[in-house]
Amino acid sequence: MLPTVIAPSILSADFARLGEEVKAVETAGADWIHFDVMDNHFVPNLTFGPMVLQAIKPWTTLKIDAHLMVEPVDALIESFAKAGADLISIHVEATRHLDRSLRLIRSFGKEVGVVLNPATPVAALDCVLAEVDLVLLMSVNPGFGGQAFLPHVLDKVRDVRRRIDALGKPIRLQIDGGVTPETIVPLAAAGADTYVAGSAIFKHADYAAPIAALKAGAARAG
Ligand code: DX5
Ligand code: ZN
Repeated sequence: MLPTVIAPSILSADFARLGEEVKAVETAGADWIHFDVMDNHFVPNLTFGPMVLQAIKPWTTLKIDAHLMVEPVDALIESFAKAGADLISIHVEATRHLDRSLRLIRSFGKEVGVVLNPATPVAALDCVLAEVDLVLLMSVNPGFGGQAFLPHVLDKVRDVRRRIDALGKPIRLQIDGGVTPETIVPLAAAGADTYVAGSAIFKHADYAAPIAALKAGAARAG
């Protein structure tokens, strides 16, 4: 298993102080910064674009993990690559030519992530798993922070873990949505290693305690 990664989603941060918020979670023990891009088309909400990513980049040395919930996606892959994203994840549901879009991410020298919505079967990974650095399983329907974890995703986590182990490649298995110090325990036991958490971190005044609690929860699964 790869070391646990906690990636705070700045969707739940104070947008008026985004740079300081990014620095604060880094100081509090975050491993990556998760950047949720929503377009009011693929998902029913609107967040921020590549210029905002470029603006926060000098505030952190952590990997910036851009989760693109946009359709069409290809033109924005280039924009986010140039803005300084380190890892770019795209939804299988949002591109007609998944293999081409994943190769486009790689062509900019970025790490490649593929995302499945809660109702998308794991079989959607069949022809691309060997080409990616990360699989993201959504454990809420994307669009909003603060939603409840969908427990049926645990079966998908076990399934993807088996497929990654069978390939023998160091592919990360990330979960996004409703991750808390409680839900992270069965997720880690099922084989996840990388966690996005928005409200579970930013609802607290002190970010170090919830980040430590998430890490302790993942470690508890052993
Ligand atoms: C959902 C986003 C998530 C979200 C997670 O569409 O992709 O990253 O911010 O928020 P919480 O942790 O509050 O469920
Ligand atoms: Zn996300």
